[in-house]
Amino acid sequence: MIIGFVQTKGGTGKSTLAVNTTFSKTMSKAFESIALVELDPQGTLKSWWGEREDMGYETEKVSFHHISSTQKEVFQQGIKSIATYNDLMIMDIPGEGTGKLHTRFACAFCDLVIIPMRMSTNDESAFMANLYPIIKQIIQAAPEKNGRFHVIPVFTHPLMNLEKCFSYYEEILPHYVTCLKAVYPARTVYENFNRRGLNLNEYAAIVKSNKKFKQQVEKAIEDVELISKTILSVSKE
Ligand SMILES: Nc1ncnc2c1ncn2[C@@H]1O[C@H](COP(=O)(O)OP(=O)(O)OP(=O)(O)O)[C@@H](O)[C@H]1O
Ligand SMILES: [Mg+2]
Repeated sequence: MIIGFVQTKGGTGKSTLAVNTTFSKTMSKAFESIALVELDPQGTLKSWWGEREDMGYETEKVSFHHISSTQKEVFQQGIKSIATYNDLMIMDIPGEGTGKLHTRFACAFCDLVIIPMRMSTNDESAFMANLYPIIKQIIQAAPEKNGRFHVIPVFTHPLMNLEKCFSYYEEILPHYVTCLKAVYPARTVYENFNRRGLNLNEYAAIVKSNKKFKQQVEKAIEDVELISKTILSVSKE
C-alpha cells in the first residue's frame, strides 16, 4: 500500500504525520516492511533520520529514502522501485518548490492521499488554489482514483467537538475530497521530541518518569494510533 501526506501549504504537519504513522504500532502490525520516503528537498526527515543513525536507534521494519531529484525519470523510477520492495510506503510530499509535476506524479501514484489542513480560511483558499487543481487533473485522467483523497483536520484543539469539526470540513470541501474521521490535535509534545531523532514511542520511554510529559506523549500516541487505524480502514473501503 502507498500512502502520501501532501500539502502545498507549508508547516501543516506532513512530515510529523508521516514519521509518526510510519512508526505506529498499527502500521507495524499490519505490514512487514515499511518505507518512509521524503520527496522534500528541504530534507527535514533526512536530517532527523541522520540523527537516529548517529544515536544508533533501532529502525525495526522501517527504511528511509530521500528523493528530491528534479529529473523526472530519476524521481519517478525512485518512487516506483521503493514501492516494489515494500509492503507499505509512506511519502512526505511537498508542493511549492518541487514543481507541480512531481506533486502530481506522487499523488497519482498513491492508493491513499492524506491532506493535513488547519481549520482556517487561509488554508482553505491555498488548498483550492494550489492542490485542488492537481487532484481534479488526476481524477479526470483516471476516474477510478476518486475516493482516494482525504483531508485530515490538523492542529485542532484537543477538546474540540469532533462531530462539529467533521461537519465543518465536509461543508467546505469540494468534490472528490472527503474528511477523514480522525483529527491531529495540537500538542506541545511535538515541539521537542523529533529534534533528537526520536520517534514518539522512544520519546515516551525517555520521559516516563516525568508525569506531565508522560501524559502528553501518551495522548499523542493515542492520536497517532487512531489516525493510523482510520487510514487503514479507509484503505479497505
Ligand atoms: N500535533 C502537533 N501539535 C503542535 N505542533 C505540531 C504538531 N505536529 C507538528 N507540529 C509542529 O509544527 C511544525 C510543522 O510540522 P511539520 O514539519 O510536520 O509540517 P510540514 O507540513 O512537514 O512542514 P513543511 O511544509 O515545512 O515541510 C513543526 O515545528 C512541528 O514540530
Ligand atoms: Mg515537512
